[in-house]
Amino acid sequence: MPTVLSGKSIVFGVCGSIAAYKAVDLASKLVQLGARVDVIMTDRATSFVGPISFQGITHRPVVTDLFAPTSELSMDHVALARRADAVLIAPASANTIAKLAHGLCDDALGATVLATAAPVVLAPAGDANMFSNPVTVANLQLLRERGFIIVGPASGRLASGQIGLGRLESAEEILGRLRALLGRAGDLAGMKVVISAGGTREPLDPVRFLGNRSSGKMGYAVAEAARDRGATVALISAPTGLQPPAGVRLLPVQTALEMHDVVLEEASDADLLVMSAAVADFRPEAPAAEKIKRAGKDRLDLSLVRNPDVIAAAKGQRLVKIAFAVETSNLLENARAKLDAKKVALVVANDVTRPGVGFEHDTNQVTLIDVSGKAEDLPMMDKFEVAQRVLDRAVMMLAARRA
Ligand code: CTP
Repeated sequence: MPTVLSGKSIVFGVCGSIAAYKAVDLASKLVQLGARVDVIMTDRATSFVGPISFQGITHRPVVTDLFAPTSELSMDHVALARRADAVLIAPASANTIAKLAHGLCDDALGATVLATAAPVVLAPAGDANMFSNPVTVANLQLLRERGFIIVGPASGRLASGQIGLGRLESAEEILGRLRALLGRAGDLAGMKVVISAGGTREPLDPVRFLGNRSSGKMGYAVAEAARDRGATVALISAPTGLQPPAGVRLLPVQTALEMHDVVLEEASDADLLVMSAAVADFRPEAPAAEKIKRAGKDRLDLSLVRNPDVIAAAKGQRLVKIAFAVETSNLLENARAKLDAKKVALVVANDVTRPGVGFEHDTNQVTLIDVSGKAEDLPMMDKFEVAQRVLDRAVMMLAARRA
């Protein structure tokens, strides 16, 4: 599956820190996302993990010594620097941060960073006291001002047993920031994209709600894909069990009415609205203030009132709207009716009765129906790939809007 990292050349610097073992997993994820990864380890890093681990994962030589005769750098010490699309340093130690801030290049990593024109993402890790020391704070600030992207460090339990700032950020956060960086000139650059995700919860009483089976996976995949293509993303999400993608603005909501208000506000100055949320069409008319008790009742009747149609109500001068349609029968007919009723440019329809389709799955099989009424059946694919195909259509519709 193509990603923004496919075919990209990433120089991956690893410094001496207990967190260096996590860099092995990061290298593996970069390779899985399609990147060509050249690992440069500082001398200290090799005391924590062996170069062989990185070599096995990247299938490329690992650079540990600037002057080793076998080193690619010894022939042309700026070779890696020149071909890098981005440099990622994780974990970045306080020592390397100090060296980079002052242009020291007495090792392969320092020399490469000094020689490269590629953007640098740096994820610090180490002891809390080192990161609260004004020297390190100032060094990081200097690098930030020079355009380095600093991710973390995160707070939590440190190797010393202390709780504090110094943990390496999560792989999701580091990779998300790297992906956003690589995609910043993508075909959605300069666009504001609003995405809704998850299933709304309509309260019955303080402990119960009416919900639905939406997992939020489809909407989160659209958010991730839009970020990778350079968009500024607002993700309006009902509760899900998912980790929000790095580099997107998360706006959590619970009910359809809350989603309505936030979507309308965010969509008013947006370019694109993708409503993948499963919005409850009805809500309990009068949620109980206290927990509803069972005693003395043989049955319980609920009175529901209608929620507003969020996507139909969303308006913006430049806004292109895309709806999802969940159907269990008459897919095309129902989806076409939604296209008219909701005044949207595209409906992404799925028949959730088919295996591997819709709720909770990692895959989806959808039909795209546009205003001309034409229907394009896409094969079963990963939700991230579905998201990319939907955004391909969105890019065309956004371009037509400007023409
Ligand atoms: N939607 C919305 N507001 C609602 C209900 C749905 O914005 N109150 C949006 C959904 O996010 C989706 C699209 O409308 O993008 C279609 O949702 P779906 O549940 O398939 O259709 P409904 O309009 O609810 O119609 P029906 O339940 O009759 O199929």
